[in-house]
Amino acid sequence: TIVGIGKAIPSKVITNHDLERLVNTTDEWIVTRTGIRERRVVPDGVTTSDLGFEAATEALRDAGVDAADLDLIIVGTATPDMILPATACILQDRLGARHAGAFDVSAACTSWVYAAAMAHGYIAAGLAENVLVVGAETLSKITNWRDRDTCVLFGDSAAAVVMRPAPVGQGFLSFVLGADGSGGSLLSLPAGGSRAPASFETVERGLHYLQMNGREVYKFAVRCIPRAIASVAEQAGIALEDVACFIPHQANIRIIDAAAERLGQPREKFFVNVERYGNTSSASVPVALYEAWEEGRIAPGDLLILVAFGGGLTWGACALRWTKAGPQTAE
Ligand code: UT7
Repeated sequence: TIVGIGKAIPSKVITNHDLERLVNTTDEWIVTRTGIRERRVVPDGVTTSDLGFEAATEALRDAGVDAADLDLIIVGTATPDMILPATACILQDRLGARHAGAFDVSAACTSWVYAAAMAHGYIAAGLAENVLVVGAETLSKITNWRDRDTCVLFGDSAAAVVMRPAPVGQGFLSFVLGADGSGGSLLSLPAGGSRAPASFETVERGLHYLQMNGREVYKFAVRCIPRAIASVAEQAGIALEDVACFIPHQANIRIIDAAAERLGQPREKFFVNVERYGNTSSASVPVALYEAWEEGRIAPGDLLILVAFGGGLTWGACALRWTKAGPQTAE
């Protein structure tokens, strides 16, 4: 189960009106098509591991777990500090987690859910006791700020949780992970790997930026979210009516509305903060979880379903019985 949680939100805000000055777009288009009003971006020089470190430090403090007692650090990210070494290793060093294994998970916006599934498996198998699971992104670094199709959508942030063993029936109940690699080209960052190593030409053609076929990804998301939610609920043996709160990937308010409608669930049960942060990829679900908890939307004993989708194509969902009391307000 989750025993500690933390987040890192950059202070710099970019509003839709700021973007009107950069590309041919309007606040009205962005709000009606996506629900996004503003997003956060890191200043120059701040990296994904910096955000991950801030979120992890809060999560460890909240859990009362010492970094030296971590067995494993898993970072979900599409924007690692560099291809090699893993961002999880950079974090391991900065945290002083000298007994922890560390690796990154690459499943685009689904990375944190994939990472939580791995942490759950390690803990359930008795291979680890204290696992740090981070979702951290600086998408502003791979965004083409001259491409209106993508630059209005994304933002930077991070969140982290500490997971520990719990009795069966408490904490995570079931996971569903899926992939359809045939849709890989719908959302990709083509250059910088072995297929198109970085060169003057790749930079000239903008292949080091995120490329997306938004409409196709939208259709995929609307199909896959209700299916993933229904399937993870069935595996956990729970009815959707008994779920207190759904925490979906925050990509587009219309995708969340469509999922609620298809599932016949009240829209108020879906937590939403996309208007403030845009799509922060693998950070989106854990940041939303943090804020649902912070705002008192979830309480110990509540059933939750978390769901994400993204490049790969990938999707993932988990059902959990929340066990953490609300944040301490008396400081
Ligand atoms: O984590 C997973 C990552 N990706 C996603 O979740 C994205 C999923 N897709 C979406 O959220 C939506 O498809 C978008 C928000 C990206 C686009 O919304 P849409 O309703 O599918 O719009 P569209 O792509 O069909 O474009 C409609 C029009 C086009 O103009 P024409 O061809 O109709 O003349 C676009 O050129 O809107 C135009 N457009 C814009 N106009 C103003 C596209 N981007 C913009 C923009 N401002 N920023």
